[in-house]
Amino acid sequence: MDRWKTIVEPFRIHSVEPVRMTSVGERQRALELAGYNLFNLHADDVLIDLLTDSGTGAMSRDQWAAIQHGDESYAGSPSWFAFLASVQALFPFRHVIPTHQGRAAEKILFSVIGGPGKLIPNNTHFDTTRANVEASGAEAVDLVIPEGRDPAAIHPFKGNMDVVALDDFLTTHPGAVPVVFVTITNNSGGGQPVSLENLRTVRAICDRHGVPLFLDGCRFAENAWFIKLREPGQAGRSIPDIVREIASLADGMTMSATKDGLANIGGWLAMNDDRLAEQCRNLLILTEGFVTYGGLAGRDLEAIAQGLREVVDEDYLRYRIRSTAYLGDALDASGVPMVKPFGGHAIYLDARALLPHVPPRPDGPRAPRDSAPDLHPEPHRLRHRGGPPCGLARGGPARDADHPRAGGAAPLHGKVRTARLTRRGR
Ligand SMILES: Cc1ncc(COP(=O)(O)O)c(C=O)c1O
Repeated sequence: MDRWKTIVEPFRIHSVEPVRMTSVGERQRALELAGYNLFNLHADDVLIDLLTDSGTGAMSRDQWAAIQHGDESYAGSPSWFAFLASVQALFPFRHVIPTHQGRAAEKILFSVIGGPGKLIPNNTHFDTTRANVEASGAEAVDLVIPEGRDPAAIHPFKGNMDVVALDDFLTTHPGAVPVVFVTITNNSGGGQPVSLENLRTVRAICDRHGVPLFLDGCRFAENAWFIKLREPGQAGRSIPDIVREIASLADGMTMSATKDGLANIGGWLAMNDDRLAEQCRNLLILTEGFVTYGGLAGRDLEAIAQGLREVVDEDYLRYRIRSTAYLGDALDASGVPMVKPFGGHAIYLDARALLPHVPPRPDGPRAPRDSAPDLHPEPHRLRHRGGPPCGLARGGPARDADHPRAGGAAPLHGKVRTARLTRRGR
């Protein structure tokens, strides 16, 4: 299969959703009306919507079938038990707390363990993670390896934590770090994977300093696939086996199920610590719902349970990563500067190199001006990374807010997500 030039989709598409065809003039008008702000466009006016992969993918036949099993009992629904079994098959943490999105899991966790004076290291905080850390009064610190900050640097695991920096950090700030986070794959660093070896070292450092390790597991399957492909000695292992080893290295996780849960909504918070779990559940009931559904309907729990079984399928992962690289190769051939190696779920344009005449606006709203070059009335919309959080700072849609402070040296990234292309029919 790898020898083939064509990417064969490991599925058949059996349902077709019509899209509205638009003219250049219509798109121009839509852009003007939207004030050249991507988030103000009506989705109907966008022919190819690359704004985000988050929750936008088509669900599979078996996910739709699972939805029919959705049971909406307030407590103890069978859908909850299906969800729990599916999560724990990959991530056998003692406590699993369902939430309506990943950011809700973050909000609950950092409300409990964050707060003024606390420091939270991560390889790179995703924007909602950083926002929730900071909203609690704590400080979010990015400690990705130096290659992870250089768009052009080639490294098989560019999402790795800088373990020397982490060790120094924990030594310098005893008692101030309630948790170390590792984001797999490192979305804000270009969708780059983290190696098992790096995770094992981070675990050892955390143990030495008596600090728990949590994963932001959004793209765990993709990360496991990269480990299988790139890490010596891992080629013969199954994806679930690699995922379970990753989980065994951590004390807990946050998760957005709209990524590798392959669902349109959902997330969870999981951990082994009984006391922490109790505190988090108390907050869950205040803001999300009862502990056996969180902010989700039973049918959502079923869709996630099935999505988790499908996302570890190797044919699917091979296809997904190859089709992302296909887009990257085409852009590369056109001389577009990008973060390399290509990430798993997205291609990240190096907008600073691509548009040197457009200065970054570290203090201002991200759109519209920064995104204007993307907004030529082509029938698509892209996402841009590196500006302030559109949703959070501007009171706009919070669905995929970006955050500015990826560090001064961070590239100004434009993200070309490929989920709509890769998930049709799955
Ligand atoms: C790495 C990472 N963490 C957390 C989140 C937040 O998840 P959600 O959008 O479900 O709130 C995202 C969303 O894109 C993400 O990519």
